[in-house]
Amino acid sequence: MPRDLTIDALLSPAADVDAYLATYVDGVDMAPNLREAIKYSLLGPGKRVRPVLAWHCAFAVGGPGPSSLPAGGAVELVHAFSLVHDDLPAMDDDDLRRGRPTLHRHTNEAMAILAGDEMLNLSFRLVTERVSSPTLAGRLCHELALGTSGMITGQVYDTLGGYRADLPGLDKLKLIHRNKTGALIRAACRMGAFCGLAHPAQGRTTEHGFDLQALECITTYAEAIGLMFQIVDDILDVTQTAEQIGKATNKDIEAGKQTYPGVLGLDRSKAEVERLLDVSTRALEPLGVSARPLVELARYMAVRTR
Ligand code: IPE
Ligand code: IPE
Ligand code: MG
Ligand code: MG
Ligand code: MG
Repeated sequence: MPRDLTIDALLSPAADVDAYLATYVDGVDMAPNLREAIKYSLLGPGKRVRPVLAWHCAFAVGGPGPSSLPAGGAVELVHAFSLVHDDLPAMDDDDLRRGRPTLHRHTNEAMAILAGDEMLNLSFRLVTERVSSPTLAGRLCHELALGTSGMITGQVYDTLGGYRADLPGLDKLKLIHRNKTGALIRAACRMGAFCGLAHPAQGRTTEHGFDLQALECITTYAEAIGLMFQIVDDILDVTQTAEQIGKATNKDIEAGKQTYPGVLGLDRSKAEVERLLDVSTRALEPLGVSARPLVELARYMAVRTR
C-alpha cells in the first residue's frame, strides 16, 4: 500500500515518463528539426495523465510502476500526435496549446503533420524496441492500435460527422467521446495492467500470463474515466479562461461541436461526471488497497481545473 496518496505524489511518475521519453527520442536517428518539433510537443507542459494511469494500473495488478514505462511512453506519443493534428487548421485550427503556440504555429503545417506522423510511428517502435518479451510486445501493440483506431474514428465523428442520422443526441455524444478520448485512456490502463501482470514480481495466479479478473476491473474503470475525462474537458472549455487551461476556450460551441454542456447543460454534465467517478471507483474494489492510487487519480481527474 503506497503511503503517500497526495495528488503531487500520485502524479510524480510524470517526471520518470519525461526522462524515459527524452532518452528514447534522443537515441533515434532523425533530422534535428524533426527532433526539436517532436520534443516541443511531446515534452511540453502537459499533465501526462495517460502514462501516469498506466503506471498505477501496473501497480494495482501487483507489478512495479516502472514496468509500465514502455506502454505509458507509447500512449503518450500517440496522445501528443493526436493533439498536434487536432490543432491543425484543417481540424480545430488552434493557436494555443499548453500555454504555448501550437506546433504548426511554432514551426509550420508541414512539420506539424510530419512530426505527428513520426510520433505515431515511434510509439510502435518504442514498444517493439523496449519490451523484451515478444508476447507482451505483441499484446501491447495490438492494444495501442485499437486505442489509436478509436481515437481516429472519434476525431472523424467529431470533425466530419458520419454517424447514423437517427442516433439520439446523447448516444451521438457518447459515441464521439468514448472513441476520441476514451479509447486511448482505455489502452493506457490496459497496457499498464498487461505490463504489471507480465512482470515476474507480481504474485497472482494468471492464465496465459494474464489475470482476466484484474483486467476486467481495470477495463471497467478505464472506460468510465475515459468518458469522464472528455466531459470534464468540455466543461472546462465553457467554465475556465485560456490562461488557466493553456488553450483557447469557448471553442466548442463556436465550432458547432457536440459537447456534454451543450446537450445536457452544465449541472447535468457535472452529475454525469460524479456518476462515472462512482462507477470507476467501484470497479476497483476487488483489487483492494493496491488500487487506491487509481481511486485517488480518478477523483483528481473529476475535479481537475486544467
Ligand atoms: C486534452 O488532453 C485532449 C483530450 C483528449 C481531452 P489532456 O487534457 O490530457 O492534455 P495534456 O496532455 O494534459 O495537455
Ligand atoms: C481532442 O478533443 C481529442 C483528441 C483526440 C485530441 P478536443 O479537441 O476537445 O481537445 P482539446 O480541447 O483541443 O485539447
Ligand atoms: Mg478536437
Ligand atoms: Mg481541439
Ligand atoms: Mg476540448
